[in-house]
Amino acid sequence: MTRGRFITIEGGEGVGKSTQVGLLRDWLAGQGIDVVVTREPGGTPRAERIRTLLLETSEESMPAVCELLLMFAARATHVENLIKPALERGAWVLCDRFIDATYAYQGGGRGFDTELIATLERTVLAGLRPDLTLLLDAPVEIGVARAQKRNRTNGMADRFELEQRAFFERVRATYLARANAEPDRIVVIDASEPLEVVTANLRAAVGKRLVDSKS
Ligand code: TMP
Repeated sequence: MTRGRFITIEGGEGVGKSTQVGLLRDWLAGQGIDVVVTREPGGTPRAERIRTLLLETSEESMPAVCELLLMFAARATHVENLIKPALERGAWVLCDRFIDATYAYQGGGRGFDTELIATLERTVLAGLRPDLTLLLDAPVEIGVARAQKRNRTNGMADRFELEQRAFFERVRATYLARANAEPDRIVVIDASEPLEVVTANLRAAVGKRLVDSKS
């Protein structure tokens, strides 16, 4: 059996990732592909518990290194228990955020050295890498405004959403720099376009790079 495909969706806050992940899943499933949708931090019961620790606001401060290590702890169990088995049985895994988020948020945002993140990546992922990464990119003010609107309807901002604008500018710049350095893997999609244009562009990117070569 051929290994499935591993697609990750990345971007800053409020760029519409969740909506697009759902639409992409339906589109791929409509072509008879076995699709598994998951997310980070999270994706398995233990990793979801770690996610709660990461996102909750608390009086106890979260040292940046605690955050970094928890991201990788969640990823280790997620990869082992969900991503690898799904790929091995031939499914396509659609993951809402993955390793690039750590370079963007803990590297760009928090200022951790890229080399440290790369060392943890080598240990935890042991060579596992997305076949394709779709980076939904929008100016920070657009994404933050959308995230705030969502929170007014759905509840409170999480620990990351409480960060300042400069943090999100660094996150965005790091994502774009990574896309620039790895154009064969990372496709940048303009997320400030209307929803249906973004959907069409995502499908075009996946179709060109993966669906056409699936057999
Ligand atoms: P979400 O908003 O996409 O559900 O992700 C939750 C938050 O976790 C988001 O603000 C980005 C953050 N995050 C990191 O800081 N590093 C990571 O490696 C991942 C996967 C997410």
